[in-house]
Amino acid sequence: MTPSFTIRAPDCFHTHLRNGALLGAVLPYYVRQFARVLAMPNLKPREVRTAEDAERYAEAIRQARVEQGLSEPFTALLTLFLTDATTPLDIEEAHRAGVVAAKYYPLGVTTNSDAGVRDIFALGPVLRQMEESGMVLCVHGEVPGINAALAEEAFLPTLQRLAFEFPRLRIVFEHISTAAAVACVASLPKTVAASITVHHACITRAQVFNVFGDICDAHLYCKPIAKEEADRRAVRQMMTSGDPRFFFGSDSAPHPRAMKEGAGCAAGVFSAPVAIETLVEIFEEDQVLERLEDFTSRFGAQFYGLERNTGCIECTCTDWVVPEECGGVVPFRHGGTIHWQMRRLP
Ligand code: DOR
Ligand code: ZN
Repeated sequence: MTPSFTIRAPDCFHTHLRNGALLGAVLPYYVRQFARVLAMPNLKPREVRTAEDAERYAEAIRQARVEQGLSEPFTALLTLFLTDATTPLDIEEAHRAGVVAAKYYPLGVTTNSDAGVRDIFALGPVLRQMEESGMVLCVHGEVPGINAALAEEAFLPTLQRLAFEFPRLRIVFEHISTAAAVACVASLPKTVAASITVHHACITRAQVFNVFGDICDAHLYCKPIAKEEADRRAVRQMMTSGDPRFFFGSDSAPHPRAMKEGAGCAAGVFSAPVAIETLVEIFEEDQVLERLEDFTSRFGAQFYGLERNTGCIECTCTDWVVPEECGGVVPFRHGGTIHWQMRRLP
């Protein structure tokens, strides 16, 4: 008999669903994998800056689900995009509209962050309102404008200062990619957690860039960039460790093929089509398959103070080849063979 097992339906506490036509094209891949996602607010032409923006975005997602015929239970939790102009009232209103987190992008640090924050400590009243409302702060932890290999580590003093100046604020250090950040988060109070992607547990800089520093695989280029082998190992070790402060957030970030392979290269790895299957392979290889469900379906919900999902997924040990394109986007591991396949159970 083919080996298979079931786990509680997964969450993904950091993802990019996009908007417009791309939302419709990629949404089926998210709904296939996750019962609930936390959707990032860095949309174009306008970010999710207010409660009203969030309501409009929630409606667009609902509509895309209907148009794509996606009937599985699926919740998209929304985030607010912090700018220098965000006010405590914006936070209060967003919280009342059901927005669970606000995202801090340092100005210009990554895709669609041109309206990001210049000085996070100038937003003290906003952060205090978040503490009051119980809204989580999601942090893109990189210093903009410096060597990308050093940008995450250089951000750690800011993370430490945030944790100590706002002791009641729950903070998620997103898509952690260095051994230094893993150690830093582990040393901070329990109000600080980190999300871990699939790709940062799998790849290193050598797969993204050749020795001359040119991009050699555009589809693996993302922010923060993949680092060295010791970093990958530290991230992966924390992923499978069973520590409840490290949970799953894929940072699945689709860009149409032309945006990756054209003159420039947009940052982002589209991992949603293969996320859970890749995690199964990782946890199996590390012989801790019994810890998978906590990482995907429990620790994140616990940190965010949410109920766990009620449905289940089934994972079956069967080979399949990842398509070259999913919804016009080249997915992570395209053309490769994966040994597990998941499906949501009704
Ligand atoms: O690689 C990335 N892509 N990192 C980010 O922080 C943003 C994301 C995107 O929106 O494409
Ligand atoms: Zn992201």
